Amino acid sequence: MVISIASDHAGFAEKQLLVGYIRTLGHDVLDRGPDNDDRVDYPDYAALVAGDITSGEAERGVLVCGTGIGMAIAANKVHGIRAANVTTPEFAALSREHNDANIVTVSGRFVDDDTNRAIVKAFIETEFAGGRHEGRVAKIMALER
Ligand code: RB5
Repeated sequence: MVISIASDHAGFAEKQLLVGYIRTLGHDVLDRGPDNDDRVDYPDYAALVAGDITSGEAERGVLVCGTGIGMAIAANKVHGIRAANVTTPEFAALSREHNDANIVTVSGRFVDDDTNRAIVKAFIETEFAGGRHEGRVAKIMALER
């Protein structure tokens, strides 16, 4: 699977760690930056990863900022994106099973490395359950119109 990833300055160190981790899981990574921890604006990087998802260049996205909240708010402005800000692996799995989330956003400042690794693994490896959730996700997407 191709995974697009980006961060802001507050998520940079965690993003670097996650790039390496995702590769160890056997996936291809599109690292959309930044390449250092200079101060940047998170919506610019949310837009890059969201664009990779909507264009089909990547199947899933990972965004890291201080809390993950700003990245989720920004990414969800892009039509076609269902970004979930999660702090536990269980919520990561549920964001896939129930919501068919295509981007996960995580905190570089308030969640530890092991938990973020587990979040990303669960997010990548869990499939959408479909069934009764199909119509609900369709209703979410209908709100874009
Ligand atoms: C940057 O200071 C911080 O606001 C940003 O990383 C993020 O947490 C926003 O939601």
